[in-house]
Amino acid sequence: MATWRAVVGVGGGIAAYKAAELVRELPRRGIQPQVVMTAAAQEFVRPLTFAALTGRKVITSLFGASPEEVLASSVEHIGVAREHDLLIVAPATADLLAKFAHGVADDFLTTLYLAFDRQVLIAPSMNTVMWQHPATQANVEALRARGHAVMEPEEGDLACGETGAGRLPEPARISEEAHYLLARRHDLDGETVLVTAGPTREPLDPVRFLSNRSSGKMGYALAEAAAWRGARVILVSGPVELEPPLHVELVRVETAREMRDAVLARLPETTVIIKSAAVADYHVTNVPSQKLKKTATRLSLELDPTPDILAEAAAEIERAARGQLLIGFAAETDNVVSEAKRKLKAKRCHMVVANNVAAEGLGFESDDNEVTLVTQTGDVIELPRARKREIADRILDEALKLRLALYSRS
Ligand code: PMT
Repeated sequence: MATWRAVVGVGGGIAAYKAAELVRELPRRGIQPQVVMTAAAQEFVRPLTFAALTGRKVITSLFGASPEEVLASSVEHIGVAREHDLLIVAPATADLLAKFAHGVADDFLTTLYLAFDRQVLIAPSMNTVMWQHPATQANVEALRARGHAVMEPEEGDLACGETGAGRLPEPARISEEAHYLLARRHDLDGETVLVTAGPTREPLDPVRFLSNRSSGKMGYALAEAAAWRGARVILVSGPVELEPPLHVELVRVETAREMRDAVLARLPETTVIIKSAAVADYHVTNVPSQKLKKTATRLSLELDPTPDILAEAAAEIERAARGQLLIGFAAETDNVVSEAKRKLKAKRCHMVVANNVAAEGLGFESDDNEVTLVTQTGDVIELPRARKREIADRILDEALKLRLALYSRS
């Protein structure tokens, strides 16, 4: 895993204690934190907490206690600024936002901010009325215009007893945003990628449905990978337990019919379509409005095919001739590659990702996957076992190469 270094500036708000969770989260994403605390932050949490969690000295003031320390610390903010890739401020109080916006440098953190010429991530937390105050909003606007990432505070119960926007975003979310800022690339800038993910649910009656074991992990990994490479991402998702990745547009659907409608409606704006969802093949056409009663020992269900979304998308892509790339998935338990080749032809897509779902720990629900890519140019590319997020990046790498090969020929 790549490693980066980030300064975590802790402001003096009641949410300062959550910064302790943040400094535990960051190393899981390869980000080594150096904590800087304002004087107000030290009223809420002791520096020792952060020193113990990070194993590093916490920077608490611009000037040291002894003359030697004063001399060393008078330039420390410059050294710290040069040694780190990202400045995270969490929680950022209204006071810190105002100081950053206006260039006031009266302690270590605000002085470091002025000396810092790399990316800045700000996670505000305060009372709702303070957050919504025109002065705070103008400061946020100024910081965003400067290119800083300012997260929206979350809504909920606040420490002051009021309810509204002002809660510090969850540390895992701040950590994810930090990772995104450090790892993002730009080879999909200008692309709009539509990904389908998860299962569909086909109702049998008002309380029962047909579905499958898809967790959405593969599709969500693809959506995140595309977003982190600069694409605008539309994620059409069946019902799953996952948090949507940051920076993707989520369209929630339940049934195959709803997924079809969502995909076809957004198709004209997309450049790459990746269909990793496990769509139910059959559904009940006339769903009873009452719960099915247990009246007989055996119950027969009459099922009709669901719309074949991939085939409909392929027909539309051919008709529109906009140079869009269509990638299907094939979940198979045997003859994986030959079945994928058959589906590539039958569904007229440019690439099929063949997923052997019979192997232990791969395919449905797992964090890992192992797939074979079968392309319209005749290539068969094996992607050995890896995390789904890594597999997602490899699929996107091959998709870009394939599009070049397909469209530079015509
Ligand atoms: O979600 P996870 O737990 O991470 O698991 C990932 C996965 C195993 C679900 C994923 O990697 C996968 O293989 N997805 C495709 C599953 C599937 O439905 O395969 P299929 O062979 O039945 O369908 C072939 C293709 O046609 C798929 O792209 C599917 O989205 C599409 N399809 C299927 C039926 C239908 N009515 N319309 C469709 O568009």
